[in-house]
Amino acid sequence: MKKKIRVGALISGGGTNLQAIIDASRSGAIDADVVFVGADNPGAKGLERARRHGIREFVVDYAAIRRAWQQGSAGAQPPEDFRLEDMRSKQALLPPSADAKTLDAFLTARAAAEARLLKVIPPDSFDLLVLAGFMRNLTPYFIDRVNTDRARPRIMNIHPALLPAFPGTDGYGDTFRYGCKVAGCTVHFVDYGEDSGPIIGQRAFAVREDDTLDSIRRRGLEQEWQLYPECIQLFAQGRLQTERRRHEMPGGKVVERTVVRILAEPADVHK
Ligand code: GRF
Repeated sequence: MKKKIRVGALISGGGTNLQAIIDASRSGAIDADVVFVGADNPGAKGLERARRHGIREFVVDYAAIRRAWQQGSAGAQPPEDFRLEDMRSKQALLPPSADAKTLDAFLTARAAAEARLLKVIPPDSFDLLVLAGFMRNLTPYFIDRVNTDRARPRIMNIHPALLPAFPGTDGYGDTFRYGCKVAGCTVHFVDYGEDSGPIIGQRAFAVREDDTLDSIRRRGLEQEWQLYPECIQLFAQGRLQTERRRHEMPGGKVVERTVVRILAEPADVHK
């Protein structure tokens, strides 16, 4: 029997991508088992999908933790191993020009929630973590504790636009309002920025004259449901390798970026 990877999922909403991943795992289309589904809010409808399939589910209520943190509750303090300086220097979610107080409050309250998350899902309890409509950016505190081997990132996200265009929360809306003639979705590894990590896969489709935001969203989601399981399968097969590429531009400027190379042959990394 093929070895299966343990996939954990984080969601915030309806979880149609989660459903596509569960279906692909149950049908044997991907060599993966979904081992837990977590949400940042108790109202996430997708939790019901986990329940229906007998998958462990939980909520780490980010908003409640933030409120408790603001009130100075002992239970919502940042963890012992939280180093604000280190987080400040690594984070790329807020611009360097951001107000220092706002940045520190964000990083500290977020780490309190992320520490809670790490307790419920210790990094050795899964091989891959997929964000499937999870509406909270992860900070370096969480990412560093999951990606202990920097050469092997293991947090994926799906984004409703052709990155690097339109990062943020409303990819299809931004694409549509901009008047793009092509829309699409992207699966990428998560890095310290917002929707900025190495791209694993993309799907594109033409925007038609009679398209509405709803029709773009509907067709986009249909692409997502295919793309996400495909990318998970590449990971399960050990076919995703990150590498640093360096390009010297005319004029001497150097552009460097970590990109994903998709190997033709499966490697042995998860066996
Ligand atoms: C998807 O469009 C995904 O790209 C974005 O959030 C949406 C989640 O949808 N990150 P669902 O909860 O999977 O139905």
